[in-house]
Amino acid sequence: MKLSLLVEEGEKLSLIPFNRSRDLKYWEEIGNGAADTHVFTREKPSMYIVTDGQENRLGVVGLFYQEGKPWTEIAIDPKYRGHGLLSKFYELLAKKHGLKRLWISPNISNTASVKSHEKAGFVRVGEEYGKVIAYKDF
Ligand SMILES: CC(C)(COP(=O)(O)OP(=O)(O)OC[C@H]1O[C@@H](n2cnc3c(N)ncnc32)[C@H](O)[C@@H]1OP(=O)(O)O)[C@@H](O)C(=O)NCCC(=O)NCCS
Repeated sequence: MKLSLLVEEGEKLSLIPFNRSRDLKYWEEIGNGAADTHVFTREKPSMYIVTDGQENRLGVVGLFYQEGKPWTEIAIDPKYRGHGLLSKFYELLAKKHGLKRLWISPNISNTASVKSHEKAGFVRVGEEYGKVIAYKDF
């Protein structure tokens, strides 16, 4: 499927519950060292594989809770980066969980993550322990 079509028709994207024995290796492979698999030890983790509604995996997205706030994790398959999928993944996640605000804390050194979240409209509120703290309302 052409990616431009897929992005325009965001409703075709599907969230499939993350299966650790099937999907952990994939997440580590596409995560550029930023796949925080400790998420499974956090409060109320909900991780998903994002597909194009068919067989193709586009990446991983999910959330966990800390101090009552939903924090996200994301990795986009290198084959599909640079097409604005980050926003689409979060829209799906926010809708599925009925969330009004999502928080993210990329490492300051993770330029791709910091910049792509800025571009997607995340608002930076500060920095803590080498991480940028930002949120977006939905
Ligand atoms: C972070 C990540 C999800 C961004 O995916 P993406 O497909 O590039 O995201 P988008 O297409 O929505 O955003 C692209 C924008 O991000 C910015 N960007 C992306 N990579 C960049 C880089 N290496 N340097 C600077 N800016 C970058 C640019 O502003 C770009 O917009 P442009 O193409 O118009 O210039 C992806 O790089 C990834 O999966 N990285 C590995 C896992 C990871 O770091 N996850 C985040 C943990 S907090």
